Amino acid sequence: MPTLPELYQPMKLGRFQIPNRLMMAGMSAGTKTDEKGDVTPEMIAYYLERARGEPGMIAIGASQVIPPKKRLFGPHAGIALYNDDIVPSLAKLVDAVHQYDVKFGIQLWNGGGTEGTSHEELFSPSGLSSNVRTARGDDTARYRGQPNRALEKEEISEIVDHFASAARRCADAGFDFVEIHAGHGYLISNFLTPLFNRRTDEYGGSFENRTRFLLEVVTAVKNAVGDRIAVGLKYNGDDFLGEDGWTLEESCRLAPIAEKAGADYITVTAGLVGSPKLTIPPMYEPQGCYTDLAAAVKPHIKIPVGTIGRIKNPEMARDLVAAGKADFVCFGRGTIADPEIFLKTREGRLDDIRPCLADCRGCIDEHLLRNGGGDASCVVNPRMSRELTCVDIPGSASANPKNVLVVGGGLAGMEAARRTAFSGHRVTLCERRSNLGGQILLARKMPGRKEIGDIVPWYERQLVKLGVDVRLETEVDLNLMKQLAPDIVFIATGSAPTVPQDMMDVVMNAEDIEIIMLDDLVEHDLEAGGNVLVVGGDQNGMVVADYLAQSGRKVTVAESLNHFGGKLAAHDRWYLLNRQNAKHVRRIKNVHNVQLDPGTNEVILIGDDAPESLPGINTIVFASDRRSERGLIEVAESLGAKTYVVGDAHDVTSENAGTIFNNIAHAYDTARQV
Ligand SMILES: Cc1cc2nc3c(=O)[nH]c(=O)nc-3n(C[C@H](O)[C@H](O)[C@H](O)COP(=O)(O)O)c2cc1C
Ligand code: SF4
Repeated sequence: MPTLPELYQPMKLGRFQIPNRLMMAGMSAGTKTDEKGDVTPEMIAYYLERARGEPGMIAIGASQVIPPKKRLFGPHAGIALYNDDIVPSLAKLVDAVHQYDVKFGIQLWNGGGTEGTSHEELFSPSGLSSNVRTARGDDTARYRGQPNRALEKEEISEIVDHFASAARRCADAGFDFVEIHAGHGYLISNFLTPLFNRRTDEYGGSFENRTRFLLEVVTAVKNAVGDRIAVGLKYNGDDFLGEDGWTLEESCRLAPIAEKAGADYITVTAGLVGSPKLTIPPMYEPQGCYTDLAAAVKPHIKIPVGTIGRIKNPEMARDLVAAGKADFVCFGRGTIADPEIFLKTREGRLDDIRPCLADCRGCIDEHLLRNGGGDASCVVNPRMSRELTCVDIPGSASANPKNVLVVGGGLAGMEAARRTAFSGHRVTLCERRSNLGGQILLARKMPGRKEIGDIVPWYERQLVKLGVDVRLETEVDLNLMKQLAPDIVFIATGSAPTVPQDMMDVVMNAEDIEIIMLDDLVEHDLEAGGNVLVVGGDQNGMVVADYLAQSGRKVTVAESLNHFGGKLAAHDRWYLLNRQNAKHVRRIKNVHNVQLDPGTNEVILIGDDAPESLPGINTIVFASDRRSERGLIEVAESLGAKTYVVGDAHDVTSENAGTIFNNIAHAYDTARQV
């Protein structure tokens, strides 16, 4: 009997019986193709690892149905569903996944005017930017959408045919279902949303007209595949835009019409670029943030309804199904953070599931923004996109175990301990504080960011399971090192905030201004004054500004670069900026120095323009520079131990250093070598 039996009730979908209520959501992650456009062994490995847990359904993410002007090949090109020659290689992938009891499907998609499709000619219903802010006339958005043209009416039926041909290819390749992607501000979704659809022909204006294109696609796809495979539909339950958005009322109205047109299931999603709520929501949104949308649509139809968005906990999924809010539950990032999430759910090992932190930094940011549509990664799962090459074999070093000492119990230290113990080494981890977690324990105190600390209890449980000797309140010195006689030492002693060299004068001369270092402020809950300057506008400074402003303080952030929060994911930053704006936090960029007026002792910011005086500042929080703490390297080396330095102790100054993402990945890669 499974631990969560409600999730293992069968469900009918088209002509199929699905054995459970779990779905791995379609994500354009792990969809690498080769220089001929074929499926790669990496792609097969990615899906197989997730299929082992046998969720009822797995979908491949957005796959292009319309031939581009010039076809791209290679890892960033995606799956070319517009071409017959994709069928044999897709069939290999389907066969591989079908060794498990999983229904396997793929999304039919065109991006309309959105980014990431620059090799294509971009078009949309009315030639408007796909960014809500830009389409509304606000030119300050960083991503403004790409120029695109309005579709001619005659072209629409050709596009409908492309969706149908693509679906036929998917059926030929052996897929069990296709999912028509009609959400997230892509082509079909743009037809639904009045803001983006200003057409005056029969494809724009009224509800009937805006839904016409979608329904034509559903009908054509159904006609193309008949009962061979099921046809799913994913669309936004609500755009959350108010008057010029697609609304929940319209979603409910569309559902029975789509059912009649041939849809075999509907997944209710949300989010557009630049809308107040995003498709891939960061931790600021509550878990299960879009479940009410699915629950509202469900009573209108008989076909199964799926819910998606910030669901990472199988118990929450069980509750949703049990309460009748949805028939099945889709997991997106949960499957990136832990590819074994479904296996562990099935086996009742819920405590072992490595939680997604909803920071968005490793997955969507890496995939879309930092990697140009290439590999997604994951902050907590450094094997993401490396499933084929990075195979972890438990106990591989058991025949020749070494004594490993890890100094420091922050994330890098815990990961180094976990990964070396996993190989079979004898591991001792010493942490001078009374808790494991390091800086993450401070990060989780920031408003809305508690969930980021969820990874600490997971590490604690793993360390216990792997038999790591964890010693808290234990300062490592020469004597202890001699006593432990490690063969290998990991220095994971972290970093501490510092005052930038050229701002030392401020510290020396500030009379009525309190100077506080970031870590002290948060760790010891120090009381700042009512008018605070935060020096540093990257991730630390930005979240601490939100924290300080929370209790009504006047807060100014001064950043030396010309942008804020560069180490944060764009999705995370978007919510954070909105929070700060609501609290009137002032952000000033290109600030190269902070000085004190010799006459008034007021703070002066030295930037690109004329110096600016900030009267009344009574606290300065330094949250910019940090220095690595690496005092024990020489001690370890003097004892002949092979010594590795990981995490902030290794690097805290280069571009992505000092992040959870870098520190776990670096510790993992280093520890694998041992
Ligand atoms: C890296 C990445 C790629 C995604 N690609 C797609 C996609 O191709 N099609 C789609 O419908 N949704 C895509 N999504 C959105 C997810 O399917 C899902 O709607 C969203 O992440 C919210 O669910 P979650 O909180 O379980 O991750 C993607 C999400 C991520 C993180
Ligand atoms: S990078 Fe962060 S948000 Fe994305 S899957 Fe991993 S833990 Fe979740």
